[in-house]
Amino acid sequence: MKLTVIGGTGLIGSQVVQQLTAAGHEAVPAALSTGVDLISGKGLDQALEGADTVVNLANSPTFDEASLDFFRASMTNLLAAGHQAGVRHQVILSIVGVEQVPELVYYRAKALQEELLRQGPTPYSIVRVTQFFEFMEPTMSWTSDDTTVRLPATPIQPMAAADVATAVVEVAGGTPLGGIRNVAGPDVFRLDELGRITLAARQDARTLVTDDTAGLFAAVTGDALLPGPDARLAPTHYRDWLAAR
Ligand SMILES: NC(=O)c1ccc[n+]([C@@H]2O[C@H](COP(=O)([O-])OP(=O)(O)OC[C@H]3O[C@@H](n4cnc5c(N)ncnc54)[C@H](OP(=O)(O)O)[C@@H]3O)[C@@H](O)[C@H]2O)c1
Repeated sequence: MKLTVIGGTGLIGSQVVQQLTAAGHEAVPAALSTGVDLISGKGLDQALEGADTVVNLANSPTFDEASLDFFRASMTNLLAAGHQAGVRHQVILSIVGVEQVPELVYYRAKALQEELLRQGPTPYSIVRVTQFFEFMEPTMSWTSDDTTVRLPATPIQPMAAADVATAVVEVAGGTPLGGIRNVAGPDVFRLDELGRITLAARQDARTLVTDDTAGLFAAVTGDALLPGPDARLAPTHYRDWLAAR
């Protein structure tokens, strides 16, 4: 099967291309750095030529208001170009509980992307996953100084990017779900607890201060980011992942 992987040079996209290729598919990465621009449409028709499935793993360069424009324009352009090219399956990667955190504009932008896909002309699948383990580092850096790292006690159930890629590959290689697949990590943590585990593993002497006003995830209420009982659980545990790095 031929698949075009939009954002195929990114954290998840590059691993999806690798895994699809290893499974015997023809997986073609398409991204800004390969000359394909989802926003202007440059190179898009050529990138989709002959593709059975499009996997959209592009990401907005920012998490602010501009992310709404990014996901609106990119999804609209990709659906139009895919329809024109005869694509039979459009897959996107979204976030577990995305509609439950309207306070975060990036989450509203991802919910908008989902809605555009649902209303589009092509059979589709939405893979919703939880926060990536790899996302801990930037999350901590936003609210840290030389002596402390501040994080709220938000419950999360994160997963490894490699497991995210596996979940995407499984869906992309199959028939359209016409709905959502939820996938989460194997363990629930509080974000501040995850920060303490991370600092300890890195022998980083800074103090982790629980601060329910700190950073992006302060806007999350209750268990909004945790999956329901239908979610599939990924195999990799955070402590094992940290130890292997
Ligand atoms: N972070 C999380 O915890 C989380 C959780 C659930 C879902 N997600 C979703 O996972 C997806 C992938 O995230 P990621 O971390 O793998 O992203 P990433 O590493 O930031 O990669 C982004 C990719 O998008 C491409 N791109 C950006 N602007 C583009 C444009 N105008 N035209 C074409 N390509 C463009 C980039 O191309 P170049 O490299 O060539 O510039 C790159 O390949 C995102 O949709 C995100 O919302 C993230």
